Amino acid sequence: MNRLGILISGRGSNFEAIADNVAAGTIDGEIAVVISNRAEARGMVAARQRGLNAIAIPSKGLDREVYDRMLLEELRRHSVDLVCLAGFMRLLSATFIRAFPNRVLNIHPSLLPAFPGLDAQHQALEHGVKISGCTVHFVDEYLDAGPIILQAAVPVLDHDTVETLSARILAEEHRIYSEAIRIVLAGRYATDGRRVILR
Ligand code: GAR
Repeated sequence: MNRLGILISGRGSNFEAIADNVAAGTIDGEIAVVISNRAEARGMVAARQRGLNAIAIPSKGLDREVYDRMLLEELRRHSVDLVCLAGFMRLLSATFIRAFPNRVLNIHPSLLPAFPGLDAQHQALEHGVKISGCTVHFVDEYLDAGPIILQAAVPVLDHDTVETLSARILAEEHRIYSEAIRIVLAGRYATDGRRVILR
């Protein structure tokens, strides 16, 4: 059975969408552990309510290498073989990435490479794009930069606010993250440089 480790920092709605699919049997795996770098993250409450292992590893004041070693230890302790960043707002070190080659995924609320980093939906509105969306990608040590597995586009409407655009994008996030997890767990892809070819 595939063992997922979910890393969160906040609300945890992407984690919950994944957990729903795991519970429904539409993702062939189990959630071995949910880890948050913020003890007070709302997603931790949801994880505990679902009876999952929910572990806070506060990152404040810790050196990246030190923190990432703590993360790796916890993930290994739970025999995790796929790491899913779900609103986990930290960069991971090269050491971490090397420990899970092609086994760390992230979701980002823009059509990368547009608008990496914080407040992607705000960035999209400010720039005036007419289409935005979300991206699931393999994680490397750079910010929102690894090979793209799936994207979904949504329109940006004239009357949109950050809230309305974020909600439209989030519905797509919840859909494509689980789909990307299915693809990766089933090995239904090949890579050609940066290109992830689905099959
Ligand atoms: C999501 O919109 C996710 O794409 C974004 O944070 C939100 C977390 O929501 N992630 C990033 O911006 C990463 N660069 P959630 O906690 O409800 O899943």
